[in-house]
Amino acid sequence: MKEQLQQLQQEALEKIAQASDLKTLNDVRVAYLGKKGPITEVLRGMGKLSPEERPMIGALANEVREAIQSALEEKQAKLEQEEIEKKLASEAIDVTLPGRPVRLGNHHPLTRVIEEIEDLFIGMGYTIAEGPEVEKDYYNFEALNLPKGHPARDMQDSFYITEEILLRTHTSPVQARTMEKHKGRGPVKIICPGKVYRRDNDDATHSHQFTQIEGLVVDENIRMSDLKGTLQAFAKKIFGEDREIRFRPSFFPFTEPSVEVDVSCFNCGGHGCNVCKGTGWIEILGAGMVHPNVLEMAGFDSKKYTGFAFGMGPERIAMLKYGIDDIRHFYQNDLRFLQQFNRA
Ligand code: PHE
Repeated sequence: MKEQLQQLQQEALEKIAQASDLKTLNDVRVAYLGKKGPITEVLRGMGKLSPEERPMIGALANEVREAIQSALEEKQAKLEQEEIEKKLASEAIDVTLPGRPVRLGNHHPLTRVIEEIEDLFIGMGYTIAEGPEVEKDYYNFEALNLPKGHPARDMQDSFYITEEILLRTHTSPVQARTMEKHKGRGPVKIICPGKVYRRDNDDATHSHQFTQIEGLVVDENIRMSDLKGTLQAFAKKIFGEDREIRFRPSFFPFTEPSVEVDVSCFNCGGHGCNVCKGTGWIEILGAGMVHPNVLEMAGFDSKKYTGFAFGMGPERIAMLKYGIDDIRHFYQNDLRFLQQFNRA
């Protein structure tokens, strides 16, 4: 019986050593230490032994069981450790793999130009004003010295919603609204960026919807030279330090006198090229001294207060600045166009 037990121990230890996974190991445990296992069997047969042999065999059986038990535990710990390591190895993240590029969005070129212009004017003490795109005929035209039936209304073909309400054709109604809010007291110093709408057929230089930035300054002693100095600073900031501007007489019902403003050509420096069509100058905006009628209608005393106003199209500015040949590019959301302005 003693040999039998020693043999069992040897067998079990061999199998434990061979077990290469936890399942097999558990099978070995059940086979040798289970209730129906051979050791239990031996112990059961102890009744047949002589009283001298019994304690000896009993002690040996316990030793064998403990030896198997501890070999099992040791092996189990080893297999568990191996399993964890295998898992770690298979789930490891390879930090040396190159990352997947993240697609970055960017500001639309128009937004960029508008923000650049806003920055400049904010730096000169202007605040930003906004107004509704669906506007009253009164603010879009009448308050700007364009009564009903005025021929100059034809300059801006309009989308009417009712007889009195339309999509604003320019940002100038924000002038009228802002002055009204000031209740006859200066100073007023604002720029108003925003969308405007005209009944134009879309082509390379026309769009039924586009953007404008309006500027307005009203205070005592505002002169045309203030307008000129302001626009000069603007032209240098947007088109380069060496730029000059010039005024040409023009007409707007809401300004008197009115001017078109040209900037010296940034392409040829004023010598004449295809960008400036040989003239050395490029038209960039309309401006003038606020018409006394407009001041009076908004509640300002035109004997005490004077002002200047200007209106420009960021599309035109952006087209000139970046050499864009078709206004429709701004609205077609073609990434091949838009991505050219990424982090420029
Ligand atoms: N509102 C004019 C336009 O859209 C531009 C302008 C604004 C001209 C202010 C003079 C003064 O054509």
